[in-house]
Amino acid sequence: MKSRHNGRVTQIQELAAQVPAALDRLRPVVERTPLQRNARLSAATGSTVFLKREDLQHVRSYKLRGAYNLIAQLTDEQKASGVVCASAGNHAQGVAFSAAELGIHATIFVPHTTPRQKRERIQALGKEFVELVLAGSTYDEASQASKGFAESEGKVLVPAFDDPRTIAGQATAIAEAFEQLEKKGVTPDVVVLPVGGGGLLAGCAAWLREHHPHVRIVGVEPYGAPCVAAAISAGRPMTLKEIDTFIDGAAVARVGDIPFDIIREANIELIRVPEGQVCSEMLAMYQVDGIIAEPAGALAASALPTGGVGNRTPIPPDSNVLVLVSGGNNDVSRYAEVLERSLIHEGRKHYFLVNFPQQPGALRQFLDDVLGPDDDITYFEYVKKSSRETGPALVGVELGNPGDYQFLRDRIADLGMEVEEVEYGSPLFRFFF
Ligand SMILES: Cc1ncc(COP(=O)(O)O)c(C=O)c1O
Repeated sequence: MKSRHNGRVTQIQELAAQVPAALDRLRPVVERTPLQRNARLSAATGSTVFLKREDLQHVRSYKLRGAYNLIAQLTDEQKASGVVCASAGNHAQGVAFSAAELGIHATIFVPHTTPRQKRERIQALGKEFVELVLAGSTYDEASQASKGFAESEGKVLVPAFDDPRTIAGQATAIAEAFEQLEKKGVTPDVVVLPVGGGGLLAGCAAWLREHHPHVRIVGVEPYGAPCVAAAISAGRPMTLKEIDTFIDGAAVARVGDIPFDIIREANIELIRVPEGQVCSEMLAMYQVDGIIAEPAGALAASALPTGGVGNRTPIPPDSNVLVLVSGGNNDVSRYAEVLERSLIHEGRKHYFLVNFPQQPGALRQFLDDVLGPDDDITYFEYVKKSSRETGPALVGVELGNPGDYQFLRDRIADLGMEVEEVEYGSPLFRFFF
C-alpha cells in the first residue's frame, strides 16, 4: 500500500504519515500500557489472543492519545483562548488531562447520560482548568452544543474522532502494540478494535494498511448503535434515528466524515455484538482475568468467543489475534445492570406475567411444581384483587441451566396457568426495570 493511488496521496497514506510524529509527541505523556497474552480468550478461540491494556492508560482509556496529539499542536494563541470538546466521557478525560498538563482552559460538554464516575474523573483530572457542561442526552446532542459554543466564543474545538490529529493520536495505540509484539517475535494475523464514531478504527486501519497491509482488521460495533455499518451500506455517513446508549463510549449515531472515508478505503470487516454479550465479556474479564473494563472497553473482546453477529469468516484457529481493551472507566453502580443483561443474554433469566389463581397455596404450588432444583425466583410482584378469581403476578426466574428453558415453559403450561413472557426491551419490561 506504499504506492500512490492514481498518482495522488490517499487519505490512508496522509494519515499514516502523521503517526510517527504522534508517537514522539506522546511518548513523554502516555503510559506504555501492557500487552498481555490472555489465557481465557486464547482457550475459547483456539488462537493466541493478546490484549493491549489501554484500560490501564493514565485516564483509563486510549482517548488521551488523540486529545493530547491535537492540543499539543495548537498555536500559542489558540492555546491561550482555550479549547472546547464534546464527549461521552472518555475523550473528555483525555482533554482534561491534556489541558491540565499544558495549562490550557477547556470547556467540556457531556450528555446527561454520562455516568457519574466519568464526570467525577473529568473534574479530578482537569482540576481548575476544566469547566464541565451537561448538554443533551446523547453524544451527538452534546456535540452540537459544543460546536455552537466554540464558534461563538472563538475557541478551538477538539473533536473526539473527526479530525486527522485525533485519529493519528489514536493510531499510536496499535503502533505501540505492534512494537511490543515484535519484541516477542509475534506478528498478528488479526486486529480486533471497538468502534464508536470511527476515529480509533480509522487511525489504526490507516497505519496498518501502510505498514502491515495483509493483517485482517475487524471493527466491532454495538448492536444498538451500528453507525459505521449503516454508513457503509448507505454509501455516506447517515444519522441513526435511535441508538442504545448502554455501551456509552461507543454509542454514536453518526460516524465521522473523515473516519468514514478512511474506513471505506481500508476494506475492514465490521461486526455487531449484542449489548448482553458485551456484559458477559465484562463479567468474564472481571471474574476471570481481574480486568475492570467499561462496556466499550470489553466490546472488541466480546466478539471473540462467539464471533459476534454477521461475522463473515470466523478467525481460523492458531491465529495471532491482537485485541484492544480500550477503556476501564466503569461506574460500580452499573454492575447490577451488567449482570442482569448478561443473564438475560445467556438465557438464564426470564420474566413472566402469570395469571395466578387467587386461592391459598397457589404460590406454593407454583414454586413446588414449576421450579427445578437449580432454579430460583429472583422477582415476584403480585397485587391481590378482591373481586376476581385470578390476578396477574410478575415473576422473574433464574435458571441453573439455560437449556432447561423449555422444561420450565412445559411445567408452567402443565399447571394450567395463563403465562406470557415479558420480552426483554419491550415497553412492559422497561416499565418495570
Ligand atoms: C473506551 C472506548 N472504546 C472505544 C471507543 C470508540 O472510539 P471511536 O469513537 O474513535 O470509534 C471509545 C470512544 O469514546 C471509548 O471511549
